[in-house]
Amino acid sequence: MNLILLGAPGAGKGTQAELLVEKLAIPAISTGNMLREAMANGTELGKKVKQFMDEGSLVPDELILGIVAERVTQPDCQNGFILDGVPRTLAQAQALEAAGVKIDHVVSIEVADSEIEGRMTGRRVCGHCGASYHVAANPPKTEGVCDQCGGELIIRKDDAPETVRHRLEVYHASTEVLKDFYGKLGRLRLVNGSQSIEGANEDILKAIGAKV
Ligand code: AP5
Ligand code: MG
Repeated sequence: MNLILLGAPGAGKGTQAELLVEKLAIPAISTGNMLREAMANGTELGKKVKQFMDEGSLVPDELILGIVAERVTQPDCQNGFILDGVPRTLAQAQALEAAGVKIDHVVSIEVADSEIEGRMTGRRVCGHCGASYHVAANPPKTEGVCDQCGGELIIRKDDAPETVRHRLEVYHASTEVLKDFYGKLGRLRLVNGSQSIEGANEDILKAIGAKV
């Protein structure tokens, strides 16, 4: 099963992707995490994307398409994959279609902008594996330490309130149109993201016809 998780910054794409990886036994491909890793490792790609990421703007489509096209052909994607944070522009969605990447369901996690800022100020992410936590809604077992890999939890630079506002604008201007695009293809599933993490996860599983 090939899935896309769509939604505003902070809607819960990363959180839900982590749960779906366990339940569906397919990998999650998070372009945000891949780009942050490239920046942390100081690679050529990391240097190219740093300014875009720091200011909360979109990275150019061709850089994104290159890393995604390579990742989905790896052996662990044979039985399916979860795309978290990609596609994010009409051009990216059209390029995936043109490349023959088959998408079964596009789950849009719906959360009002007014709820996003609170989520972002409480977010902590693992500097090593990218896992996402929240100081109140989803705390790690040990403060400051990732449950999954023991990495240190940090605050993302682009979670500053001003940058979050810009990311929301970018979402509405460039990404939200994908709901129309996939709706017309009959693949869009809307899920209420303004409920508990577990509740949203159940609704996603139902929406894609998987066992809850
Ligand atoms: P990316 O890393 O994808 O960021 P984003 O889309 O802005 O989304 P986030 O990761 O901020 O939020 P999320 O939906 O994953 O929420 P999370 O689960 O963490 O992209 C970052 C940057 O990379 C972009 O700005 C761009 O520069 C670049 N980029 C990446 N992909 C690109 C592409 N395809 N094209 C161009 N550029 C690209 O949850 C948020 C918080 O809320 C957490 O603290 C979590 O614990 C909490 N939470 C989650 N669910 C709930 C709930 N139900 N109730 C209460 N709290 C909850
Ligand atoms: Mg994320």
